[in-house]
Amino acid sequence: MYFVANWKMFGNLKSINTLDKVIKFSKSKEIKKGRLIYCPPYTLLTSFFKKFENCLIDIGAQNCHENDNYGPHTGFINSRMLKSIGANYVIIGHSENRKKGETDKLINLKIKNAIKAKLKVIFCIGETLTEKKKGKTRLVLAKQIRLGLDKIKKRSNIFIAYEPVWSIGTGHIPKPKELEQIVKFIKKKFKGKSPKILYGGSVSPQNISDLKKINSLDGFLIGGASQNPKKFIDIVKKTYN
Ligand code: PGA
Repeated sequence: MYFVANWKMFGNLKSINTLDKVIKFSKSKEIKKGRLIYCPPYTLLTSFFKKFENCLIDIGAQNCHENDNYGPHTGFINSRMLKSIGANYVIIGHSENRKKGETDKLINLKIKNAIKAKLKVIFCIGETLTEKKKGKTRLVLAKQIRLGLDKIKKRSNIFIAYEPVWSIGTGHIPKPKELEQIVKFIKKKFKGKSPKILYGGSVSPQNISDLKKINSLDGFLIGGASQNPKKFIDIVKKTYN
């Protein structure tokens, strides 16, 4: 199981000290087969990389530029630059960025170049509350997958993170049965081997016992709770107990 910590626009140099507990946990037997991946803001990637030098915790970025060449793009960072500083993962297509105008086409380009740079991609998809109420969830997800992965044949390095927009940061999660059916629907969209599927949206130590019942999930993308080491560790522990 994969546990991806998405720190969003939080954290400073002091936050690095909070990682000691998680490093200790990652070296204990209690971690079982859990894989931990931290996606801090760009400003902390190198510090996190150094901090995790002697353990198996991986790092990833929260986005990247769609162009893999160096160039005049003030304020942006591309996947090659991320790979060069030790990142192995990148989150692409998060709804918070889609909301700001990131299109499926742009997401597709970002994914293509991230794969070229040998990064593993955590590709986020999810419906809004309005879309859900209109019964359009499956339509929306199918479209996001089709356009986001257009002309991408090599999909072994892609994880799909199903994150219903209405669930992010709200404390609401889908009903287990509903979630199970959606994961099944996503898997069916892939001929042959399906990518690994993560769930994201208000994952917490309180609701993990419900979420872990969905056997077809390969892990979780965790926002708010991942900034608190105790909560993050609790989520992993409770997934296995
Ligand atoms: P949340 O965020 O766990 O705070 O809901 C998840 C995400 O946006 O990736």
